[in-house]
Amino acid sequence: MLSYRHGFHAGNHADVLKHLVFVQILQSLHKKPAALCCIDTHAGAGSYDLRAKEAEKVGEFRAGIEKVWQAPAPPALIQTYLDAVCANNPSRPDELRYYPGSPALAHHFLRPQDRMVLIERHPSDHARLDRIYAPNAACRVELGDGYTLLKAFVPPREKRGVVLIDPAYELKTEYQDLLDSLTAAYQRWATGVYVIWYPHVARAQTGRLLKRIAASGLRRILKVELALTAPRAEFGLWGSGLLIVNPPYELDVQIAAILPWLRHILGATSEAPAGVNWLVPE
Ligand SMILES: C[S@@+](CC[C@H](N)C(=O)[O-])C[C@H]1O[C@@H](n2cnc3c(N)ncnc32)[C@H](O)[C@@H]1O
Repeated sequence: MLSYRHGFHAGNHADVLKHLVFVQILQSLHKKPAALCCIDTHAGAGSYDLRAKEAEKVGEFRAGIEKVWQAPAPPALIQTYLDAVCANNPSRPDELRYYPGSPALAHHFLRPQDRMVLIERHPSDHARLDRIYAPNAACRVELGDGYTLLKAFVPPREKRGVVLIDPAYELKTEYQDLLDSLTAAYQRWATGVYVIWYPHVARAQTGRLLKRIAASGLRRILKVELALTAPRAEFGLWGSGLLIVNPPYELDVQIAAILPWLRHILGATSEAPAGVNWLVPE
């Protein structure tokens, strides 16, 4: 059993970037009434108590969602994400206590015609997802390896939707697993939106993964990156990025417009790289 538990990291700067891009993608897809399917290959526990000992131990959320939550006058795109965070705190909407993971966000935006598929390998996180979401006929919860199981769910019958691939990258083999899973899914469903999260850490595999995805034959891959400091050689997450295959119209413009605000609120240093550009164009 691997040791990664997202509860220690929930609401950190990487979650903020990933989740607000994810929310904006859902918003864009909702412009059409046709049903969509949201597939989460590494779903986590669904939602996180920021007062739990895991979250408090490292306190990563204080340098992430807490700063965004407290910021005055956020841009509209950020406000939509914050409204979803707020909805995850129904008893005290003014208080930031429970941070929604990707399943809670996907569920919040689920319309009656939509579906979602959650895949998680950790038995206790899976059990929690199963208890919360499986009673909803529109939600399917699977225990197992997200890289392998993804191909069983694409193309979804709706032929529209988004796949979130959000690994913890604990194993060196995961970079190749991700590439294999992504390319196999794309062969079956070339019009799906795919969101791939990756960390900025002192590790060469991330750069190699990006090069391999760029050379894989997939087209229209947007890259969004946000760091808090200049690249660091020592241990730790200094930033993160997302690749978005088949991004919705104008996602690049929308995210580029809010990055300066986000960098400012999160206290990114002037040397910290951030930006939106095309890894592979049309
Ligand atoms: C970064 S967390 C996911 C966070 C979640 N997507 C969110 O945004 O709230 C990664 C999750 O993947 C799970 N996991 C690790 N390897 C996996 C695999 N091969 N297949 C499915 N889940 C896996 C871990 O247990 C962990 O809960």
